[in-house]
Amino acid sequence: MTGFRARPAALRYTRPAITFHWLIAILIVSAFWIGFVMTDIPGFTPTKLKYFSWHKWIGVTVFALVVLRTLWRLTHPAPRLPSGMAGWQRGASHAVHFLLYVLMFAVPISGYFYTSAAGVPVVYLGLVQLPMVVAKDPALRDVLKQVHITLDWILLVTIGLHLLGVLKHLVIDRDGLLSRMNPFGR
Ligand code: HEM
Repeated sequence: MTGFRARPAALRYTRPAITFHWLIAILIVSAFWIGFVMTDIPGFTPTKLKYFSWHKWIGVTVFALVVLRTLWRLTHPAPRLPSGMAGWQRGASHAVHFLLYVLMFAVPISGYFYTSAAGVPVVYLGLVQLPMVVAKDPALRDVLKQVHITLDWILLVTIGLHLLGVLKHLVIDRDGLLSRMNPFGR
């Protein structure tokens, strides 16, 4: 780990990668927060409908940013991991990151298809009506609702694993690895 500490600048993520990471992280936390709050509001109130719209706009924004982030990531590899890191840790890190990417696509897509099957168009930021991707279908709506909620929970658990990794590097390894993604670092 000393080699890593000695040359951290060479091992940092790039500025665009750090910006994508934190922007998407903040939006995903917001989508979860509004998602849980809005579904707890009984009946159909104007506030609930407003929160549903905000939730969808945030989700659609996450999807657009994740498309751009993936294109960036495919053309700009992540900095290499410290040479002393155990094989299982490398495997776990890659598996969790891969799953996060899959879920960052699957969660908003499932929400979008669910809304379409419910026959409710998304008017992005109240300005642009986005296309319906499936016809209104109550049976499909019920299935997609469960798919969206199940994927939400899988994403939440995966984010939890990601944070466990963060905690390990912070408290146990104390190897400075987290500075790679520090938005305020140089
Ligand atoms: C990062 C993206 C997203 C995240 C993290 C997310 C998360 C959530 C969460 C946590 C809930 C509450 C689940 C529960 O009842 O336990 C929810 C519900 C919902 N989401 Fe999303 N969502 C995302 C994207 C989207 C998108 C893009 C749409 C549609 C355009 C959407 C439509 C909905 C709808 C309609 C519900 C209400 C489900 C119900 O009827 O109870 N979501 N979402």
